[in-house]
Amino acid sequence: MKVNRRCQPELVAPDTYVIRQLFGEGLGPAAVYVNSMLIAGPEAVIVDTGPAVARDDWMADVFSIVDPGDVRYVFLSHDDTDHVGNLREVLDLCPRATLVTNMFTVERMAADYLLPLDRVLVVNDGDRFSVADRDLLAVVPPTFDSPTTRGLLDTRTGVYWGVDSFGTPVPTEVTDVAELPPDFYQAGFLQMNRMLSPWHRWLDSSRYGSHLDRVRSLGAAVVANAHGPALRGDQIGTALDMLAQLPDMPAAPLPGQAQLEALIAQFTAPAQTAAA
Ligand SMILES: [Fe+2]
Ligand SMILES: [Fe+2]
Repeated sequence: MKVNRRCQPELVAPDTYVIRQLFGEGLGPAAVYVNSMLIAGPEAVIVDTGPAVARDDWMADVFSIVDPGDVRYVFLSHDDTDHVGNLREVLDLCPRATLVTNMFTVERMAADYLLPLDRVLVVNDGDRFSVADRDLLAVVPPTFDSPTTRGLLDTRTGVYWGVDSFGTPVPTEVTDVAELPPDFYQAGFLQMNRMLSPWHRWLDSSRYGSHLDRVRSLGAAVVANAHGPALRGDQIGTALDMLAQLPDMPAAPLPGQAQLEALIAQFTAPAQTAAA
């Protein structure tokens, strides 16, 4: 059973696309995007490589926008499977592409395979690299689920790739969080970001506030991210204000066995109906 739906790539700034898959739609009150990003042009940048389960759709979307020979960089935000799922295929297909990541990613991924070290550019938090017409700056996002995580600010367009941070569940395909009921958005945003960063309970509010201020000071015009609609304008400040609540919030409630069994029942019910 296919649980992901291909959504059209979304243009969020000039030459900048979010490549989108929606997972779990119709299986519950909320679905979750698994996104990556693409900066097109003669020196294109692929930002994360999507999930392997959606490989055909993901590759078709990306390479309908850019030619493999024009891909100059592949920026890997971190080594989670929904971000590295098509990495080998991209590197094989794009001979000019340099892989931009950090050494901890290389070490962690060595359990699966050794990345081509002679194609790696090491970029740590606060480091920049350049393509033909823009500088790109790596900045750790507010919340994250891997120690390797680095976001990416395009200083030309003001688009910040927030990686797993800033995400929120959606009932169906939504391109603007303003389409969501405010209560649904706030609850979903806080739930997802707490699940992503279960260490939020042990944060010092003031020190965490400084971390958020650093992201705020980027002055991003758009915050695209892997697990929710892109945020724009005032939505970014609102999201940062919600994230500032995390140190004082309890742990996110997590699904249990009852929820799992309800999900299994949803998967099996149509088959039973068909057999009858
Ligand atoms: Fe992740
Ligand atoms: Fe992710």
